[in-house]
Amino acid sequence: SCPYLTLSIGHKMPLIGLGTWKSAPGLVKQAVLCALDCGYRHFDCAAAYGNEREVGEALLERVGTGKQIKREEVFVTSKLWNTKHHPEDVESSCRKTLAELSLQYLDLYLIHWPMAFERGEVLMPRNDDGTMRHGDTHYRDTWKVMEGLLDQGLVKAIGLSNFNAKQIDDILSICKYKPVVNQVECHPYLIQKELLKYCHDHGIALTAYSPLGSPDRPWTSPGEPQLLDDPQILAIAGRYGKTPAQVILRWQVQRGVVCIPKSTTPSRIQQNIQVFDFTLSNDDMKQIECFNRNERLIIPTIEVSIKSVWLPLHTPNFKT
Ligand code: A2P
Repeated sequence: SCPYLTLSIGHKMPLIGLGTWKSAPGLVKQAVLCALDCGYRHFDCAAAYGNEREVGEALLERVGTGKQIKREEVFVTSKLWNTKHHPEDVESSCRKTLAELSLQYLDLYLIHWPMAFERGEVLMPRNDDGTMRHGDTHYRDTWKVMEGLLDQGLVKAIGLSNFNAKQIDDILSICKYKPVVNQVECHPYLIQKELLKYCHDHGIALTAYSPLGSPDRPWTSPGEPQLLDDPQILAIAGRYGKTPAQVILRWQVQRGVVCIPKSTTPSRIQQNIQVFDFTLSNDDMKQIECFNRNERLIIPTIEVSIKSVWLPLHTPNFKT
């Protein structure tokens, strides 16, 4: 089984999970089934991905009483969307996600982004000029209600996503239950060294999204160099007889970072969890750190506008 990290509350989180962002309905059920067969026991989901019902169909087939896999062997994460930060919306959003995923409880529930959007059923509420319509709920008030979900037993753990150190500090100063995870973009071009240290110093695990540089992000330009094609990573991979994806994932788990690579391709799903049969040398670990460019591929205004036309799809890389 996949090695895991023990969260501050004692719950075990497998170091590799299957990402489901951008996994098309029609493909994601097969991907989850394939991943379960390959030994994955960790799935990263979110209401905003629009595919939780289909992920749930796969879980229902294999996981639970009388099925191949016990519920407690699987770690399922989901996230509260930005339009649901208002204290009155949190519990119903969590219950909706649970129903769609066919689960009685979540292993981890995250606040997807620190900022709130206008309440309602529109995923991306916008003004006429294309800018987002923001809500006025502060994430501190959302956190208080997230804590209630724990007390109710709807979730085993709560955490954050896309929070910076200052925002985490803010939560730590008011919380009854500490966040156990912060999930952020992280890969060799954005190594998040300071944030990782901050999180680990505070007993918070860091989960890397887009660990492979999200080559399928909708706004990548044709011909734009991709992390997985980086010649230096290819060279290291060659020396270990591994693929670039395996080297990148190995580097992360070896520095204590949990990864949720997305794939709907069976051979890649299988390959991405086979990173526990080799060790990168200290020199190679350090060399990969040097690839850092502080280059953020997913920035909120882009991430939240995937389905819209106001943002040109051929956006050049953004620097932080
Ligand atoms: P696909 O889903 O078609 O297999 P990230 O997790 O960083 O968002 O990256 C996801 C993207 O990387 C998807 O386009 C996925 O393609 C691709 N991908 C996933 N695993 C691998 C791999 N082992 N080798 C090459 N590409 C991969």
